[in-house]
Amino acid sequence: MSQTNADAVCAWVDQVLGHHKHNSPAAQASAYAPSNIALSKYWGKRETTFNLPITGSLSISLAEHGTRTGLSVVDAPQHEVILNGAQVDASSSFAVKVCQWLDQVLPADLKLRIDTHNTLPTAAVLAASARGFAALTLATNSLMGWQLPEHQLSALARLGSGSASRSLWHGFVKWQAGEQSNGSDSVAFPLASQWPQLRIGLLTVSSQKKAVSSREGMARTITTSALYNQWPQQAESDLATIETAIIAGDFETMAKTAEHNAMSMHATMASAWPPLVYWLPESLIQMQKVWQLREQGLPIYLTMDAGPNLKLLFEAKHQADVEAAFPEVQVISPFE
Ligand code: DP6
Repeated sequence: MSQTNADAVCAWVDQVLGHHKHNSPAAQASAYAPSNIALSKYWGKRETTFNLPITGSLSISLAEHGTRTGLSVVDAPQHEVILNGAQVDASSSFAVKVCQWLDQVLPADLKLRIDTHNTLPTAAVLAASARGFAALTLATNSLMGWQLPEHQLSALARLGSGSASRSLWHGFVKWQAGEQSNGSDSVAFPLASQWPQLRIGLLTVSSQKKAVSSREGMARTITTSALYNQWPQQAESDLATIETAIIAGDFETMAKTAEHNAMSMHATMASAWPPLVYWLPESLIQMQKVWQLREQGLPIYLTMDAGPNLKLLFEAKHQADVEAAFPEVQVISPFE
């Protein structure tokens, strides 16, 4: 990141935290944040230091599938990062990102032990940075007694990872792109709609870490894919369609638009250079199975993030059929 942009982030953080930046920390604090899956995707940044998106996006949170992060003050020269019980190497990209975020928001001499646990151990690798930075933001707010309003917590979580701005809440969450250069209006908020019958099926094809990060993938797509030119317009239109369908409880429109949105995002990636294809052969096999079942009359749709795994969208009344067709599926009820 350039020095000027880094300075702009520091200036914004100092403005938001004010004198609370130097509050005395509590001995410890802990917070939980759910994973989220975008129904209308965030793919492309208009600014990379604040993680400001080109378009808005809309997600569904995955209830008990998330991350719990505990924080405690340590008398040590550096932060200590622990993931699922094991110390993380300080040079790993995860530890570097976490420490960089903490150093932006804490007084320079305050060092923490960050103990992060993913709930529901599963093979599915799901937006780990989203829930991780959301839980870290909530826990730090509590440890430091900042008592910040939710929109500012969302903006702080976004500094760690864009999609983290949406992981502070359960249910449907919309992240508005905003217009300000410091991102003060690029924040997420929960939608009032509940959908108790909605189900998300996690189909894990591979739990390998992705070779190309979302950050790098977005940058490559924007700079080299001609198809990306049409993406912002489609993304905004899909977001509006999905939000209206959620309010109307119209499953077909919501799920169909979410699948089309995901396929279109992957098309922009595939037309980047070098090509960016996150799918594995097994992903395609499962996708075709979904399409075949749909042709046979089962209302089931899919979405995929920057990885090979599928997330199925369906309603509770079809859960038994979906489980019969995909015995390995892990079903989440986001509103129960
Ligand atoms: C495909 O939020 O992981 O999952 O802001 O660079 O950390 P950074 O990217 P990240 O990107 C998520 C991309 C996506 C779509 C989405 O979640 O909206």
